[in-house]
Amino acid sequence: RKVRVKIPASTANLGPGFDTLGMALSLYAWIEMGEAEQTVFHLYGDEMKDVALDKSNLIYKVAQMVFDEAGVSVPELEISMHSEIPLTRGLGSSASAIIGGMVAANALIGSPLSNDRLFDMATALEKHPDNVGASLFGGIIAAAWDGSHADVIRIEPPKDLEVLVVIPEFELATSKAREALPSSVTVADAVYNVSRSSLLTGALACGRLDLIGAAMRDRLHQPYRAPLVPGMETVLAEATQHGALGIALSGAGPTLIAFVDRREPRKSELEAFLMETMRKHGIEARTRWLL
Ligand code: HSE
Repeated sequence: RKVRVKIPASTANLGPGFDTLGMALSLYAWIEMGEAEQTVFHLYGDEMKDVALDKSNLIYKVAQMVFDEAGVSVPELEISMHSEIPLTRGLGSSASAIIGGMVAANALIGSPLSNDRLFDMATALEKHPDNVGASLFGGIIAAAWDGSHADVIRIEPPKDLEVLVVIPEFELATSKAREALPSSVTVADAVYNVSRSSLLTGALACGRLDLIGAAMRDRLHQPYRAPLVPGMETVLAEATQHGALGIALSGAGPTLIAFVDRREPRKSELEAFLMETMRKHGIEARTRWLL
């Protein structure tokens, strides 16, 4: 018996919603899993080059967590994975591997665990619920994690919302981008973010694309991460003048993500502006329209 799952990439934070908002993106990883005599891996795609091929493999490990939790034993697995999600760029590649491994393992044994249970287990591994929530539930999610349980709500993305991702050619570890953050912030900055994150969640839920520009602003993480992504400061300050509804660092970066109205006539101008600005700062990048 074999199962196959298709898991989306994700973007986290959406600007102000640090560690709470996430959105699934139309970029995917596929995982196939079956019982085997001896554990074996088949990896396909350029993004798979550094992935471990023994039992320290992340997908193998999360599958075993699911089996343990369900009280069954499936020690040997045949795992195939194909991914088009760039690694270490802020597009949730590790979250998609965790969710893919968990969902596949759960399906392989007849789905004894609920998605809510898988979500708690995945969040405990990632330590933030935004990427795993989006990869598991799809669409846009808002989630709150208390250290052991995460509550989540899924929002259907507005039908005219499209996103443009700018993926720099360099990698940035989430741990490094988290180390750049201060351990405390002012009440003024906290209020700034709570208000914008609330406004953004409401605007996305109600399809109010006109509010995204005002809502997609942040003082909790992006100002501190900007030095790690050359060109980011200019891009964040100016992209709305070139047709973006709003723009943010995708998760911990270095990818940037612009929200765009599908009907926007200046899409190629926006793309050119983003690429040129990054290039001026010495960064090669590629763009992709998603959602
Ligand atoms: N919310 C997390 C962060 C996402 O910004 O560090 C990491 O992918």
